[in-house]
Amino acid sequence: RRLILLGAPGAGKGTQAQKLMADLAIPQISTGDILRAAISRGTALGQEAKTYMERGVLVPDEVVIGLVEQRLAEADAATGWILDGFPRTPVQAEALDALLVGLGQPLEAVVLIDVPEAQLIERLTGRRSCAICKRIYHLRFNPPPPGPPYPSEHPDRPCELVQRPDDALEVVSKRQAVYRQSTEPLIAYYREQKKLQVLDGDRPPEIVYSELRRLLG
Ligand code: AP5
Ligand code: ZN
Repeated sequence: RRLILLGAPGAGKGTQAQKLMADLAIPQISTGDILRAAISRGTALGQEAKTYMERGVLVPDEVVIGLVEQRLAEADAATGWILDGFPRTPVQAEALDALLVGLGQPLEAVVLIDVPEAQLIERLTGRRSCAICKRIYHLRFNPPPPGPPYPSEHPDRPCELVQRPDDALEVVSKRQAVYRQSTEPLIAYYREQKKLQVLDGDRPPEIVYSELRRLLG
C-alpha cells in the first residue's frame, strides 16, 4: 500500500495513520514526527525546524523533501507506507511524483480527511499526547482510558500527557491559514490525477476508520 493522508491540521491524519499502522503494519511516515524527533535530539535539523514550527509556518520545501527522500529510499517496497503531513505544497507534491517514478513505486491513493474549521480548532487546543508511548488523545473527545492495564510500552504507569507547543490557540489559527494557502491547492492537484478520495472526518474516530478501511478495499 502506498497512500497519502491529506487534511488540515487536526483533521485526524495521525490518529488514523496510527490505527492503520497497528492493524495492517504499514509504516507511517510523518514529517511532523520526524521534525519533532530532531528537535528533541537537538540536532542541526531540529534547531532549524523549531524556528518555523513554533510559529506555525512550514519548514522549507528542500528540507522536508530531503527527509522524505531518505525515508522512502529505506522503505520496504513490499509493505509500502502511509505519508502523513507530506506533501504540503505543490513543490513537495511534484518532488514526490518524481521521486516515486524514480523508485518505480506509484502512489495508489490520496485520502482527504475533511473536517470543518471550527471543529479543527477545538480538536487541536484539546489535543494531548503521551510522552512515553506517543498515543494521541483529546481531553474531551478521546481521553486516555483509566488503567490498569496501561499500554504495553509502560505497563507500570498511566500515560503521561503533554501538549504540543504549536497547539496553543494563536499558533493553531496560523497553521489553519497556512493550510488554506499552501496545502489546499493539492486537493485539485490530486483530483486531476484521479487519485483523490474524500472522507468525511467530522465523525467519531472509529467510524472514520471503518470508512477509511472500506475506501482502501
Ligand atoms: P504536523 O505534525 O504534520 O501537524 P499537522 O499537519 O498540523 O497535523 P496534526 O498533527 O496537528 O493533526 P492530525 O491531522 O494528525 O490530527 P490528530 O490525529 O493528531 O506538522 C507540524 C509542523 O511541522 C508544521 O506546522 C510545519 O511547521 C512542520 N511540517 C510538518 N510537515 C511539513 C511539511 N511536509 N512541509 C513543511 N513543514 C512541515 O488529531 C487531532 C486531535 O483531534 C487529537 O486530539 C485527536 O484525539 C482528536 N481527533 C482525531 N480524530 C477525531 C475525530 N474523528 N473526532 C474527534 N476528535 C478527533
Ligand atoms: Zn502512553
